[in-house]
Amino acid sequence: MTLDGKSIVVTGAATGIGRGITECLLKSGASVTMVGRRAEPLRELADGYGDAAAVLVQDICALGAAERIVAAAIERFDGLDAVVNNAGSARFGRLEAIDPAQFDAMFAVNVRAPADLIRCALPQLRANHGSVVNISSVGGVLSMPGRAYYGATKAAMNSLTRSLARELAPDVRVNAILPGPVDTPMWTETGLSEAATDQLRTDLLSSTPMGRLGASTELGRWACLLLDPDLSSWVTGALIPVDGGRTA
Ligand SMILES: NC(=O)c1ccc[n+]([C@@H]2O[C@H](COP(=O)([O-])OP(=O)(O)OC[C@H]3O[C@@H](n4cnc5c(N)ncnc54)[C@H](OP(=O)(O)O)[C@@H]3O)[C@@H](O)[C@H]2O)c1
Repeated sequence: MTLDGKSIVVTGAATGIGRGITECLLKSGASVTMVGRRAEPLRELADGYGDAAAVLVQDICALGAAERIVAAAIERFDGLDAVVNNAGSARFGRLEAIDPAQFDAMFAVNVRAPADLIRCALPQLRANHGSVVNISSVGGVLSMPGRAYYGATKAAMNSLTRSLARELAPDVRVNAILPGPVDTPMWTETGLSEAATDQLRTDLLSSTPMGRLGASTELGRWACLLLDPDLSSWVTGALIPVDGGRTA
C-alpha cells in the first residue's frame, strides 16, 4: 500500500470499526490523528504506535471542532491528506419511542459533523489530491422498521458522499463504506434492552447470507484500500457494501 507518510484524520478512532481502520492505516505507514471524546481508549491504542499516532480528545459536534481537528493534524504531521468520518451514533427504537431531540443529536454526529470536517479539511485535501472515506451503513439503503431515524441519517450520509464526489472531483475523492452488522461497542448504546439487542443480533445474522458478523479489521482494510491512491485513484462517489451479502 502507498499510504506511507500520509496524514489522515480518523474520528471515533479507538473502538470498533474505527480501531480496525486506525490500526490498518498505522500498519500501512500512515500518520493518524485519532479523534474521540474519551482519552483513555485513544491513548491505549496510540501507545503502541509511537510518533505516528496523535490523540485528539474532541467531541466532533462541539462548536469549532472541525477547525480544531484540522489544525491539530496540520500542526502535528505538517499537512492533511485524508479524512475518515467513522464516529457515529445509533439510537434504535420505533418512531413513537424516540424523542425527536435524539434524532437531532444523531443527525449532528452522523451527518452534520462529518460534512463540516470535510469542509474545513478541503483546502488541504485539494492541495494534496486527498480523499474522504465516510463510514455509513447498509441501514442507509435498506428499509429498517424500528431503526428509521438511524437509517435516515445514513441515507443522508450516502447522499452527501455522492454529491460531494461530483462537486469535489477531480481534486478530491469521496467514497463511503456501508458495513453490515459488526460486533462493536455500538450495540450496547442503542437504547434497546439486552433481550431486544439479542433478538436483533439473531435477526441480522439470519438475514446475512455469509452467516456471520463482520470484523472491524475487515472494514479497516477496505478503508485503507479506498484511501490508497495507487489502488483507488479512479474510484469516487462509490457506496461500497461490506456486509456479508446483507444487501444482495
Ligand atoms: N457496528 C455495526 O454493526 C455498524 C454497522 C454499520 C455501520 N456502523 C457505523 O460504523 C461507525 C463506527 O461504529 P462502531 O460500530 O465501531 O461503534 P463504536 O465502537 O461505538 O464507535 C463509535 C466511535 O465514535 C466515537 N464517537 C461517538 N460520538 C462521538 C462524538 N460526538 N465525537 C467524537 N467521537 C465520537 C466513539 O468514541 P467516544 O465515545 O470516545 O467519543 C467511538 O469510538 C459508526 O458510524 C456506525 O454507525 C456500524
